[in-house]
Formats: sequence, structure tokens, C-alpha cells
Amino acid sequence: MRAYVVESYGTDGLAQAEVPRPTVGRSDVLVEVHAAGINPLDTMVRNGEFKQLLPYRRPFVLGHDVAGVVVEVGADVDRFSVGDRVFSRPRDLRTGTFAELVAIDQADVAPAPASLSTAEAGAVPLVALAAWQALVEVADVQPGQKVLVHAGAGGLGSTVVQLARHLGAHVATTARGGDAERLRALGVDEVVDYTTQDFTQVLSGYDVVLDSLGGANLTSSLEVLRPGGIAVSVVGPPTPSFARQLGRPVLAPVMWLLSARVRARARRLGVRYSFLFMRADGDRLAQLAALYDAGVLRPVLDRTFPFDETLEAVSYVEQGRAKGKVVVVR
Ligand SMILES: NC(=O)c1ccc[n+]([C@@H]2O[C@H](COP(=O)([O-])OP(=O)(O)OC[C@H]3O[C@@H](n4cnc5c(N)ncnc54)[C@H](OP(=O)(O)O)[C@@H]3O)[C@@H](O)[C@H]2O)c1
Repeated sequence: MRAYVVESYGTDGLAQAEVPRPTVGRSDVLVEVHAAGINPLDTMVRNGEFKQLLPYRRPFVLGHDVAGVVVEVGADVDRFSVGDRVFSRPRDLRTGTFAELVAIDQADVAPAPASLSTAEAGAVPLVALAAWQALVEVADVQPGQKVLVHAGAGGLGSTVVQLARHLGAHVATTARGGDAERLRALGVDEVVDYTTQDFTQVLSGYDVVLDSLGGANLTSSLEVLRPGGIAVSVVGPPTPSFARQLGRPVLAPVMWLLSARVRARARRLGVRYSFLFMRADGDRLAQLAALYDAGVLRPVLDRTFPFDETLEAVSYVEQGRAKGKVVVVR
């Protein structure tokens, strides 16, 4: 089959290649890929930024999001049948959706939302799961709370603002002024134009901040929290619990050190800091599918690219200017 494979780590490391059809394990479904969303994580994995944490064996197929149709099932599969329309964010080390076929453990798969096009369904699994895990599982957002979502115009942000609104929060976001109207239509109450305004000067008393920019943005985010509030960063620095999540507890001291400064600063301000690296979860994805079908969540697509232009699609996302999700379709 044709696939986009990382042969060597680096910016030129991704190329189309002919690779063997995936092996279908007993609990796997084999999915014919019809759409695969692009994520910044793809470029980070391609560049080797995660090679110590996620030891993929090269050459490996890249890609973390998929929508398609089940064409084969393993002997123990009891949730899906051939012909089912599904979507998924396969678990780490079993990714590989930039391909004609991908084998995925059935626990990571859910029926695709009936109301979404295939491109839309292929765009959302990673960001929808990340949004849920950040706002519900980590931050425990409650109705009436104030939530600041950075970079609301992006693939992740445009999903998180909608979920925050659904949870009953007052939602603020940072974005360009030109995106304000579009973001208000997604349920945002307050748009801070990051090109002309300093969000720390206009926002305060927030219960939750979702940081997807890191560095100084994260440090400043701690200042807009009320005492006891929480900043959840999806870009780091990682905390020791991430080492445990990866099954690499030996790395916990390194992550403790990496996050020592931000945790100390949070402690001084009387707020909390948490790092999130989202996890595959087919059951949760099925619940999120219901939110898409109910119209609570809406996919926000920037562009689609044909399969043969996957490299262009990855480069486009790499520029960091996407308005919503970018998807490769077949
Ligand atoms: N750990 C996890 O589980 C997890 C999950 C999902 C995503 N992430 C990470 O989160 C980050 C964002 O992901 P994504 O999919 O949303 O990326 P994306 O779609 O490429 O984000 C691009 C968006 O970010 C906006 N942006 C850039 N700089 C900004 C700033 N200073 N203030 C406000 N907005 C800004 C851009 O708006 P303009 O064009 O107007 O500048 C653009 O709309 C990535 O680093 C990704 O790896 C982590």
C-alpha cells in the first residue's frame, strides 16, 4: 500500500513509499483511510522531537487522526464489523494514518458521527479527545467558571472553546481581531486580540487556562488565574505524571526538573499547573461523536488536501497559521 513514511528524523524525513499492508492483530480493525487530519504532533514526531519518549522504529508511517471504513476485523473484535464507518486517534506507537490502510485496536475506535462528512470526521478525533481530557478530566470545568483558551482560531482551540461553552463556562480566547466574529459564533464570550493586547491586562480571576503556546505565554497565564485555579498546558513543560502515562517512570525525575520552575511559580501564586498529553480513548470518542451529532460541537475545517499532497498539508500546518483543521482526503 502507499503511505507517508518517516525514514529518518528531520524536516525532510517524510516521504511517500510503498509499504506492506498492516498486520491485523486479534483485537484490531483494519480501516481503509478516507480522511486523515494533520496535527502539529505529526511534524514533531517527524522531526524526532519525541524519539526518547515515543520510540517508533523507523521506517514508520506517520499520522494521528483517521476516518474511514472497516475492511477487516481481528478474531477477537466484537465492537465493529466490516463496512462500519469509523473514526479514531490510534494510540501512541500504533499510529500511522497517512496511508491507504491502518490497523487500530478496537478500543481506540468509535463509530464516526453520522452528521459529519468523512473529511470532518477525520479532522477531529485528536483535538476533541484533547479538549475533553483537558477541560473535564484535568480541570473539572463547572458551569459558571471562567475559562481562557489560548489560540482559539487553531485546530485545538476552535474545539476547546466550543466544549468549554457546552460545559457552561464563560469563555475567553486569544486570537487575531479578524477572527473575533467567527469565534463568537463558536460560543466565545471574549476575544483578546493578541496582536494588539496583552491578555494579562484585560483578563483576571480565571478558573482555568488552556495553554497551547507555552513559554512566556504559560508563565503569564498563571497570573490571570484566581487562587486555586489551574493552567493546563498541552505543550509543556511535562510533569512526572507524563512519565508514568508513557510507562517510563524512570523519566519522572527529568520531567520533575523540566517543570520545576513553572510549578514553583504556580505554587507562589497559589494556583495549579498541569501538563496534558492526550490519550487514545474509543469510548470517549463515541461520546464526543454524539456531541457532534447533536450540533453541540462543530468541526472547523481550514483546508483539505489530496492524499498525494500530504507533504504540502503537513507543511501548511507547520506554518502555524491554520484556521481550524487541515485534512488529507482520499
Ligand atoms: N498535548 C496534547 O495532547 C496536544 C493536543 C493537541 C494539540 N497540542 C499542541 O497544541 C498546539 C496547538 O495545536 P493546534 O492543532 O491548535 O495547532 P494549529 O491549528 O496549527 O494552531 C494554529 C493557530 O494558532 C494561532 N496562534 C499562533 N500563535 C498565537 C498566539 N500567540 N496567540 C493566539 N493564537 C496564536 C494561529 O492564529 P494566527 O494565524 O492568527 O496567528 C492559528 O490559528 C500545538 O503545539 C500542538 O502540538 C497538544
